[in-house]
Amino acid sequence: EKAVPTPHWRPAYHFTPPANWTNDPNGLVFLNGEFNLYYQHNPFENKWGHMSWGHATSKDLIAWKHLPVAIPEVITKDTTTWIYSGSVVLDKSNTSGFGINGKPPLVAIFTADQPKQKKESQFIAYSNDGGLSYKQYSHNPVIDLNMHDFRDPNVFWYQPTQQWIMTVSMVDDHMVRFYGSKNLKDWNKLSDFGPAGFTKNGWECPSLLPLVVDGNPDNIKWVLFVSSGGEHGPLIQYFVGDFDGITFKSVNETNKVLKVDYGDAFYAAIAWRDAPENKKILLGWLQNGRQETYPWKGQMSIPHDLSLKTTGDGLVLNQLPSVFVTRALHKYATGKVIEKTNIDINGAGLKLPGNGNAYWIDAEFDIRNARKAGFNVVGKAGTDKKVTLGYDAEKQLLFVDCTGSEKDNKSPENLIQTAPMKAINGIVKVKVLLDRSSLEVFGNDGEKVISTMIYPDKDATGLALFSEGAAVVKSLKMWNLNRGE
Ligand code: FRU
Repeated sequence: EKAVPTPHWRPAYHFTPPANWTNDPNGLVFLNGEFNLYYQHNPFENKWGHMSWGHATSKDLIAWKHLPVAIPEVITKDTTTWIYSGSVVLDKSNTSGFGINGKPPLVAIFTADQPKQKKESQFIAYSNDGGLSYKQYSHNPVIDLNMHDFRDPNVFWYQPTQQWIMTVSMVDDHMVRFYGSKNLKDWNKLSDFGPAGFTKNGWECPSLLPLVVDGNPDNIKWVLFVSSGGEHGPLIQYFVGDFDGITFKSVNETNKVLKVDYGDAFYAAIAWRDAPENKKILLGWLQNGRQETYPWKGQMSIPHDLSLKTTGDGLVLNQLPSVFVTRALHKYATGKVIEKTNIDINGAGLKLPGNGNAYWIDAEFDIRNARKAGFNVVGKAGTDKKVTLGYDAEKQLLFVDCTGSEKDNKSPENLIQTAPMKAINGIVKVKVLLDRSSLEVFGNDGEKVISTMIYPDKDATGLALFSEGAAVVKSLKMWNLNRGE
């Protein structure tokens, strides 16, 4: 079967590989003014396989420079080694000894998946050319438990005990194992966390981040992220707690599952290490697999700035599109930013200007007299296809509803994605990031996020406001980001 190109689904302001498959983001590290993104990549085909690390860099998290594969699969007579997910650290004081000429090396820590041996172990590799290419350490593996499913190491420097900390997944035990190391080569087991929370699927891609609470830099809590999901269960869950250099202890009731995202597409997210302004910026892989895209498959989310907030439900994660993205947005907008205030909508509403289905909208709805309000991503002229998103005031839900544009006989419940959220004095705020085939909706200044993939027709005609009952758009700002391929 010949693949059909789908340029109308190629995101304009999100990362995609120029061609072929991607899944997880890997090795996110900020270096010399640039965000480095490595990613799970099949360099040869538009489907999962030949796992290697693709590479790209960006100064503003919107425009990406595509670079050669940084860590390719290794094939010998007896062994195939796939380069699975992992992280990269800048080894500032050359603890590893891999540095040359006084220049600190970058060290990649990742899982070597060896299908013939049915084995996963942790490998390291180092770069002396700023991250363009890596050499495998000659004494790999650095951690080997002779296990089949043991993967996705994520490493950071922990100042108080002057050592590197690794979180790595004991996939089928639903546990995160913590290791410590002085040199990135010799690792000692520190502790285990789990099982806890959601355990119906294997645990993958764990990572631990210190986050500021309520904007107070002196108040830090640690958040442990774990990707695990499928068949309508959570995709990424998180635990808020304390970390003393050895053990992570959750402060929440650990059997209550906290979800990072309420859509069906956000997975395997990790954060940049060493990002400027002390930001903790999370990037996830977006994919729900309902359609083929070609000549690429898989994309990254918009990067999220993370923080913690004290709420009636305890400490919860807050996520907004990264300020590095919002600061650069005007550079990429075509035409003027559209600004409107106090628009009355009652029923099928106003068509918004623009085309190409690449928009960014910040809007505030007054929903006191409405049952629902939001946007329709309108289908091709002459059809009544649409994706509806917005706020359901009766059910108190932020939602994305794809039932007007797609059928999914296997799992129709996937077509409606919701997040519980309350209006504040009758006002609901939404940010809508529609980028051709990806749709990310942020509610109430980052309280809830729904990320999904939608597949509008090639000649789909843009966006319209809608409501059930009388809603007022208090304010709306809209950037048209249809900047071609
Ligand atoms: C998550 C994952 C990881 C693994 C990688 C392989 O999507 O399954 O656990 O390292 O993808 O591509």
